[in-house]
Amino acid sequence: MSRATSPERKTPIVALASTKGGVGKTTLAYVLATEVARRLALDTSPTPWRRRVTCIDADPNRTLAQVLQLTKDRLITCIESDSDRLLADLRHAQAESDLVVIDLEGTANQAMLYAAAKSDLVLVPAQPSRFDVVEAVKTIGVVRRAADLVGREIAHRVVLSRTPVLRQRVADHSRAQFVRAGLPLLPVELVQRAAFQSMTYTGKPPWLQDGGEQAAANVVSLVDAVLHIIGPRLSSLTIGAAPESVATQARGPKPQLEDVQSIA
Ligand SMILES: Nc1ncnc2c1ncn2[C@@H]1O[C@H](COP(=O)(O)OP(=O)(O)OP(=O)(O)O)[C@@H](O)[C@H]1O
Ligand SMILES: [Mg+2]
Repeated sequence: MSRATSPERKTPIVALASTKGGVGKTTLAYVLATEVARRLALDTSPTPWRRRVTCIDADPNRTLAQVLQLTKDRLITCIESDSDRLLADLRHAQAESDLVVIDLEGTANQAMLYAAAKSDLVLVPAQPSRFDVVEAVKTIGVVRRAADLVGREIAHRVVLSRTPVLRQRVADHSRAQFVRAGLPLLPVELVQRAAFQSMTYTGKPPWLQDGGEQAAANVVSLVDAVLHIIGPRLSSLTIGAAPESVATQARGPKPQLEDVQSIA
């Protein structure tokens, strides 16, 4: 059996999906891709990594492709795609990479159905608001239809995004609403931070930004949570409590984890 078809080596696909625009899909796709690429670059284990993350930008606005062009990370390839090309692009990306990340348009369309059908994990970013609970329910409806089509379970998690740094009652209430609607939540949220906005202008992920330590720590926890779900191969890249060696090599002083853990 070839490397690409061997089940234990099958490259995981993570899709960022929501029927609503502006919820944080591209932001999450970008931090996931850049953080996994950072870990692949540092990893010295004997694992035969391809040392490549492929991002598939299936949003006609191409925001992920644009910010990745600024970043110029040699371990990240970005393919601009659409519903006609998506399945072929995914096959190619899976054969070449350790992880494939798909960024989608904020609407229920054919690309979303295809992406969900091929994914190991669908992440549904949502802000703490009633409107976003409704849209997350719709999005997960598409994921369930895709699962029905392909005859297998497709893991999915709502990721709360742009949540306030300080725990607030409205955000707690909102978390409870997602749970009540039967939507599984990733245990780590993407907190509202300036570093997540400035990276869209500079192409610098938080760990490369002055003052980006807390956003970087949030990304470490969030990516760890994602890697645990998508399987044993990539979860060997999990940092856990950000060991000193990795934290100091990668981003200088050890990030402050407290505020991330308090909301996780
Ligand atoms: N955690 C965060 N902290 C601060 N700003 C954020 C955060 N997440 C997202 N944003 C900002 O919110 C806006 C929308 O985010 P993003 O573009 O990632 O959403 P999207 O779901 O991809 O939108 P679209 O559907 O239009 O593609 C952007 O301006 C982004 O910089
Ligand atoms: Mg987007």
